[in-house]
Amino acid sequence: MTSRSSKDQFNANADKYATSDVHRAGPSLPVLLKLARPVQSDQSLDVATGTGHTALAVARLVENTIGIDIAPGMLEQARRLAAEQAISNCAFIEGSAEKIPFGDGQFTLVTARHAPHHFHHVADFLWEVRRVLAPHGRFVMADQISASAGIFDWVDKWERTRDPSHFMQRTVEQWREEATKAGLRWIEDLIVPYRLEFDWWVKQAGCAESVVSSLVEHAAEAPQPVRDLLCLEFGSTGRVLAFQEPMLVVRFEQERKRI
Ligand SMILES: C[S@@+](CC[C@H](N)C(=O)[O-])C[C@H]1O[C@@H](n2cnc3c(N)ncnc32)[C@H](O)[C@@H]1O
Repeated sequence: MTSRSSKDQFNANADKYATSDVHRAGPSLPVLLKLARPVQSDQSLDVATGTGHTALAVARLVENTIGIDIAPGMLEQARRLAAEQAISNCAFIEGSAEKIPFGDGQFTLVTARHAPHHFHHVADFLWEVRRVLAPHGRFVMADQISASAGIFDWVDKWERTRDPSHFMQRTVEQWREEATKAGLRWIEDLIVPYRLEFDWWVKQAGCAESVVSSLVEHAAEAPQPVRDLLCLEFGSTGRVLAFQEPMLVVRFEQERKRI
């Protein structure tokens, strides 16, 4: 299980997320916006907003946006970015994905990007999203997935060694099952591959040298199905250079009846 909380992990690395191109302008963001189809009258909520890159992109297109996160250090950076970009219709407040601090039916659009793999209680998160959505509201999620259940163990060790606040990387089938149980209707999805440079990826999480060495070793020992599915790239010395992380982007809509 995790030895470091998301709050500690992200407070410690907040400045890196504020400037990260992967988070500020990574390819899942335009896809999320495309599936969300924001309109001016939307009241929107961004869950686990981090330094606010998704919330700020949505805020440009809608009436009001609120970003929530459990890490105050990340929210501080989000407020700074909003001020820098002169965006005044976006507020950032502390709050948990599993206990969203708003009443029922308050939002027409909810988003959550690059974060649900940190949540310990994903069923609670999905129920909470459904609860705060207005009737027929949309929820668009973008999160990294495991390409197949057969590589779970390898991927979770890879991710958790690098960032101990990583909890679980689900498959598409698991997301479908969880969303159905929560009363969210799966409307459409796209898978967006991210090619991540290993050296950038470990720096982003503030990894110590000993952690980097464990990851290099884990990559060198990766079985063939993992090498193929993650498109692991190695240099001439055999050290890992890069890999691909598939990002699932899904549009859900609220089912009309409670189930
Ligand atoms: C990679 S960052 C999010 C990036 C951001 N959504 C974006 O688009 O740039 C992951 C965030 O999830 C937050 N987080 C993790 N678990 C959470 C939870 N249970 N409730 C709310 N926020 C959480 C972390 O504090 C962190 O800020």
